[in-house]
Amino acid sequence: MARRNMHLVAFLMTGPTCHHHGAWRHPESEVDNILDPTRYEHIARVLEAGKFDALFFADILGIYDIYGKSYDTMLGRGGQVCLLDPAVILPMMARVTERLGLGLTYSSTFNHPYQIARMLGTLDHLSRGRVAWNVVASTSTLEAQNFGMTEMPGRAQRYDRADEVLEACMALWNSWEEGALVLDKKSGIFADASKVHYADYEGQWIKTRGPLTVPRSPQGHPVIMQAGSSERGRDFGARWGEIIFTLQHQKSDMQTFYKDFKGRMQKFGRAPESCVVLPSIDVVIGETEAIARERAEYVNELVDTQLGMACVSGQIGIDLSQLDPDQPLTDIQVEQGSRGSFDVILQGTAAEGLTLGEAARRFATSELCPQLVGTPEMIADRLIDLFQDHACDGFVLTPTTFPGMYEQFCKTVVPILQERGVFRKDYAGRTLREHLQD
Ligand SMILES: Cc1cc2nc3c(=O)[nH]c(=O)nc-3n(C[C@H](O)[C@H](O)[C@H](O)COP(=O)(O)O)c2cc1C
Repeated sequence: MARRNMHLVAFLMTGPTCHHHGAWRHPESEVDNILDPTRYEHIARVLEAGKFDALFFADILGIYDIYGKSYDTMLGRGGQVCLLDPAVILPMMARVTERLGLGLTYSSTFNHPYQIARMLGTLDHLSRGRVAWNVVASTSTLEAQNFGMTEMPGRAQRYDRADEVLEACMALWNSWEEGALVLDKKSGIFADASKVHYADYEGQWIKTRGPLTVPRSPQGHPVIMQAGSSERGRDFGARWGEIIFTLQHQKSDMQTFYKDFKGRMQKFGRAPESCVVLPSIDVVIGETEAIARERAEYVNELVDTQLGMACVSGQIGIDLSQLDPDQPLTDIQVEQGSRGSFDVILQGTAAEGLTLGEAARRFATSELCPQLVGTPEMIADRLIDLFQDHACDGFVLTPTTFPGMYEQFCKTVVPILQERGVFRKDYAGRTLREHLQD
């Protein structure tokens, strides 16, 4: 069997919280610079020194106000709030790095393909071929309302539109052939217009004429990243995705997803190795196992109970503010139809006899991401085990402290992965797509 390399992508958000809703309060976490370019430039440099394939910004286009019908807790306590627009941050990160892939989340429901193709084509030029687009179909009403809709269209319609958006973007990116830009001062030929074509795309939802104004970019089109979990979402990922970001708690669930996903790709005529599947992982590293456990306990204690409840409310779309956080989870009745996601979100915690508040705080420590706690060797062992047992092609890491966890991971875990021969010692290629294939 061909040798595989592990792929690593860093998860970022432009706010206090990524997956861990208490991490920003940790003494080692930097928050004073949350609106400052140096924060983003620094982390890009750290991740490039650690030879990560890429970083990407997850995004939410609004502030959750489900809990208590207000955003007091989510904003006031520092939950998942995205303060800045990643599209403006990525070019700064591109300027201080040379190889690191740079991804952002853009909704196919709220944006027109011409605008998406133009922005991402520009970024692919400015980064010299390192851009990824995390395509989301979006789900939340609060985001829909920020874009003038009363509510979200149904899933089927969202994905029908997403397919059309991707088709239209591809047509626009392909509207410039290689070599269309001539730049010959002597003959006065700036561009060979015969190599630039109309896109003439017309679907049920999307129409665009083209050509794009942006010349063909180094990667031709950005690397497509995706994270849909429904049947339709997985099919969409299997058709278009080159990086799939998933969230499973157990190794066996990761293996089931991995096998299912690679099988789906064949349905779309794609080779399984043309897309990497990366489950999300949190790590807490210590010099000894005991130190790591103590650190994990400390950072997990920093999650505020109200924020935990607001976080679960946001996930299941139900206001839990009227419920007593001290009541046992088993006593809680939630509305029909939401029980499924409630059970999934609070996975297994009912059996442990936890109260609602305790379970919500636990959820808010990682949003169901497995939290690996241990020495660098222990963390490397776990990652290699998952990777070699075909649970994944690598990982999306989320920070438990920022930027400390990434700095520690790059200094202590990456060298072990390199020594064990599963992770690159240096970049072999220039573009993100080349990194994903090395
Ligand atoms: C692990 C994971 C991470 C996601 N991150 C984001 C995100 O940052 N922003 C967003 O708008 N949607 C995000 N989503 C949502 C989706 O990518 C997708 O659009 C949504 O779940 C609807 O698809 P589905 O019905 O197939 O789940 C994420 C989903 C998963 C599973």
